[in-house]
Amino acid sequence: MTGSTAADHTGAPGSRNGEQPLWHRMSDAAGLVSATGEVEETVFGRMTQLALAHDAVNLGQGAPGDPAPEFLLAAAYDAMRAGANQYAPPLGAPVLREAVAQHRRRDWGHEVDPTEVLVTAGATEALTAAIVALAPPGTDIVVLEPYYDSYAAAAALAGARLRPVGLAFDGGSVGVDFEALAAAITDRTSIVLLNTPHNPTGLVLDEQQIVRIGELTAAAGAWLLTDEVYEHLVFDGTHVAPAALLDDPRVVTVSSAGKAFNATGWKIGWLIGSPAVLEAVRAVKQYLTFTNGAPLQPAVAAALTDHPAFLEDNARILSGRRDLLVDALREVPGVTVITPESGYFVLVDFRGLYGEARPGAGGTSPDSGAAALTADAFALNEHLTREVGVTGVPAPALCAAGSPTARAMSSVIRYSFCKGHDDVAEAARRFRTFAGTLVD
Ligand SMILES: Cc1ncc(COP(=O)(O)O)c(C=O)c1O
Repeated sequence: MTGSTAADHTGAPGSRNGEQPLWHRMSDAAGLVSATGEVEETVFGRMTQLALAHDAVNLGQGAPGDPAPEFLLAAAYDAMRAGANQYAPPLGAPVLREAVAQHRRRDWGHEVDPTEVLVTAGATEALTAAIVALAPPGTDIVVLEPYYDSYAAAAALAGARLRPVGLAFDGGSVGVDFEALAAAITDRTSIVLLNTPHNPTGLVLDEQQIVRIGELTAAAGAWLLTDEVYEHLVFDGTHVAPAALLDDPRVVTVSSAGKAFNATGWKIGWLIGSPAVLEAVRAVKQYLTFTNGAPLQPAVAAALTDHPAFLEDNARILSGRRDLLVDALREVPGVTVITPESGYFVLVDFRGLYGEARPGAGGTSPDSGAAALTADAFALNEHLTREVGVTGVPAPALCAAGSPTARAMSSVIRYSFCKGHDDVAEAARRFRTFAGTLVD
C-alpha cells in the first residue's frame, strides 16, 4: 500500500488518525496483507502467474474448463433480443424466483415460496449482504475451516469476528469436529455459516450432522446461513438442504447458478429466507448492486426448470475428472489424497513424500531440504510446479492466517479438476510421470 506501513495508514484512502481503513481490514481478514502492509493479489492470481512462469498446468482457481451449455446462451440471447436489457426488478425476475422455488422443491424437498427468494449478484453478494444484515458488530461468525475466502472479508465489513473451526482430517478422510464446533458456538455467535457441499474438501454433510449443527445453532439463537453453490456437483451420496430438513425460519439459504451451469462469470445467485430476512438483506443489496444480469436471469430460470438432465450429466463428467486426477495422484508414493465426494477440488497432503518438518522451523526455500517443504505449502507448491509441472493452491491460503488448521495443512495443496478434460488429463499424466521417477 503506497505511502503507509502495516502500523501507520496515514495518507491511505479511507484512513483516519492513521488507523487501518475498512478496505484494508477486509483484505487483512482475507489474508491478503503482506508483512509490510501491502495488499497483495489473491492467491489465485499469484498461482496463475506461477503456473505461467513454469509452463505448468494450472489447477489453481476453480473456474470450469467446459463451456456453458448452448441452451443457456440461446436463452440469454433471446431475452436480450426480447428487450430484457434494463434494470431487473429489485428482488429479481419473477420467472427466476419461481424457478428457484420450484427447483428447491423438486431437487431437495425444500418448500419455498417465490416471495422468499431474492436474486443476487452471485452467491458472494448474497453471503456478504446477509452477513452485513444479520451479524451485529462485535459478534462471532462461526465457520468450518478451510473456507471460501469471501467469508472473512464479509465478516470484517460487518465488524464481526470470524471464528473458524477446523475440520478434522484423519488420513484421507475429513469430518466435523463436533466438540470444537459446540465450544465455538456461544451466545456471542450471530451466524453459523455452513458450506455444504464444502469447498475445498468436498465434504457433503449428511442429515444427522446437519441436525446436530442446527441444534447447536438454534440453542445459541444464531442464524444458520448456508452456502450450497456446489449442490448439483455431488458425486457420492446426495446433497441435503439444511432448510428442508430443519424447518426453522432462522435458516437462510444461499446458492447460485455458476457452478451448476458452467457459467461462473454470469454471477446469478439467490438467497432464500423469511420475509423479515429478505427485507433486511435486500436493504443491503439495494446499495451494493441494486440488480444485475437482467437477461441472464430468465435464462437461468429456463435452465433450472427445463434442463435437470444437464445437471446430472455435468456432475458425471466432473466425477470422471475427479477419478482421473485422484487415480494418478494415488500413484505418487507417500501422498495422502482426500478423495472429494463433491465439488471442484482435491486436497493432497505431501507430508508422507517429503518427510516431517516442524512448521516454522526455518529454511522454507525448496533448496534447504525436502523436509522444509512440508512446513511451507507455498514453497511446496512452487517446488511441485517445477518438478511436476502442475500448479495448485496452497491449502493454508484457504484458512485463517496462522490458525492451527493452517499449520496442520502446511503440506497440503488443493488441485482443481473442474478444468477442461485435456488439462486434467495432462496433469494426471505429469503426476504419473513424477511418480515413476520416484519409484525408479
Ligand atoms: C464455497 C463457495 N461459495 C461461494 C462461491 C461464489 O459463488 P458465486 O460465483 O456465485 O458468487 C464460491 C466460488 O468459488 C465458492 O467456492
